[in-house]
Amino acid sequence: MSIKKVVILGSTGSIGRATLDVIKKHPGRFDVIALAAYSNAELLAEQCRQFRPRYACLANRNHSDTLRALVNERKTKLLFGEEELVHLTSLNTDIVVNAVVGAAGLRASLATVQNGKTLALANKESLVSGGPLFPEIVKKTGSRILPIDSEHSALWQALSCGKPSEIKRLIITASGGPFRTFPAEKLAEVTPEQALQHPTWKMGSKITIDSATLANKGLEVIEAVALFSVPVERVSVVIHPQSIIHSMVEFIDSSIIAQLSQPDMRLPITYALFWPNRVESDYGQLDLKALHQLTFEQPDMKRFPALRVAFEVARSGGTAPAVFNAANEVAVAGFLRKAIRFTDIADIIFEAVDTIPVVSQPKLDDILDADRQARELAQQIVERNVC
Ligand SMILES: NC(=O)c1ccc[n+]([C@@H]2O[C@H](COP(=O)([O-])OP(=O)(O)OC[C@H]3O[C@@H](n4cnc5c(N)ncnc54)[C@H](OP(=O)(O)O)[C@@H]3O)[C@@H](O)[C@H]2O)c1
Repeated sequence: MSIKKVVILGSTGSIGRATLDVIKKHPGRFDVIALAAYSNAELLAEQCRQFRPRYACLANRNHSDTLRALVNERKTKLLFGEEELVHLTSLNTDIVVNAVVGAAGLRASLATVQNGKTLALANKESLVSGGPLFPEIVKKTGSRILPIDSEHSALWQALSCGKPSEIKRLIITASGGPFRTFPAEKLAEVTPEQALQHPTWKMGSKITIDSATLANKGLEVIEAVALFSVPVERVSVVIHPQSIIHSMVEFIDSSIIAQLSQPDMRLPITYALFWPNRVESDYGQLDLKALHQLTFEQPDMKRFPALRVAFEVARSGGTAPAVFNAANEVAVAGFLRKAIRFTDIADIIFEAVDTIPVVSQPKLDDILDADRQARELAQQIVERNVC
């Protein structure tokens, strides 16, 4: 196999670091062309020393002096600002890993497919917000989107067992988060510290809170619809607290194909980086004899209304998912800084989705406008609700 050139956006985050860990485990297989982060200059500099990329970029210019002081600019060219981060996708690279968090990753995802590059996508928010924009560009440029999200990687692998016309439904599994069995009437009182304790995955703070509200599962439903061109009526969610089955596909003959492993994001990352090949790896190894039980439950949409709203939003399509996503981002940030309660997150999403009109066949400007309106409205509600 030849050496793959890789650009990693969001290299200092949980997925970015896991991606570099996979690359380190496979010496001589990858050439890291560029790394990018938002403001963590210290870690980005450390990654530059280890992986010697040609380019390193910080989207937040306020930290440029720190990065300049730490990196040898004769070895790595330093870039600053959001536009420069997007420009990294036009470098001579085989694959762009987008591990930025939030809709901030949308422009980079779009630019990657516009440049005809392979996009290894962890940044689900870009596909949620910009879903309607991708199919035409992908068709024109021949680019590919390879999912890194463990559920979508599982679906992708299972889907290879049948034809699109043979799919009965996609079954996305969810751990249920830390509050699966928590008394519903006490959810309003939970603290960010409690919500950040995910039972099975170690992730960045935004996705961890999304997992606690099940908004993350909602984003994944919308992501699956966009990624696999399957109507939302054929997508379902099942709670599987052990996080061993990462998702399943049921075909028309009633066969269900599942992908299993210990929860370890390095496994789906490895699958995407090496696709179309599989390589030996010991991430996520499963001892079947040690598994006592695999259990399944219906998600409780009353307790976790964000998931119900996500299904509605997926049915509406157009700019509705962008509104859902943007309102959620603002609400999660508000909850993390203790300005609002846990249960306010879903209320804020609901109010934004209910208030902001849907543009059904949006262009990029419509999506950016819906995102902006949702953020403004959500911010006003956060300020109104400050607890
Ligand atoms: N973590 C997981 O296990 C997991 C699993 C499935 C999917 N995902 C998805 O993967 C994405 C990343 O998640 P994560 O958990 O790795 O998040 P994270 O740990 O918070 O890392 C986020 C990364 O994005 C960078 N970033 C933040 N804001 C940015 C901006 N405005 N512009 C450019 N870069 C920005 C951060 O840089 P700084 O460090 O400088 O702030 C960091 O490198 C999310 O979309 C998430 O839903 C994550």
